[in-house]
Amino acid sequence: MSTLKIHHIGYLVKKMDAAIRTFEDLGYQIMQSTVYDDIREVNICFLQKDGYCIELVSPVSDTSVVSGLIKKFKNSPYHICYETQDFNRDYKRLTENGFIAIDAPAPAPALQNREVVFLTSASMGMIELLNSPD
Ligand code: NI
Repeated sequence: MSTLKIHHIGYLVKKMDAAIRTFEDLGYQIMQSTVYDDIREVNICFLQKDGYCIELVSPVSDTSVVSGLIKKFKNSPYHICYETQDFNRDYKRLTENGFIAIDAPAPAPALQNREVVFLTSASMGMIELLNSPD
């Protein structure tokens, strides 16, 4: 039985401040102000609306992990993040079922340094797996 729970939708944006203003015009509220993730060289801001959590991700350098993605996808949603109570078990299960890890598990500064890993599937693209806080 899966313990995966949708936590947020990751959304690539070229200009963070402009993106926040536009999301606010649509009725989103800032949950957490912009945090710099020095591991991935991105700025991250969490917004919410109607129970949905959106993570805005904006590269701050050409060597950022999303610099290539944003050239390809422009401003666009690009991953769904799933929270799990059993990170190691779900990480193992997903990799045994066709998902390929595209980095090693590492702390996420914008999420209380909880462990995250990104995986990709040939049939559905990229997901993020997030360790539960407890
Ligand atoms: Ni994310």
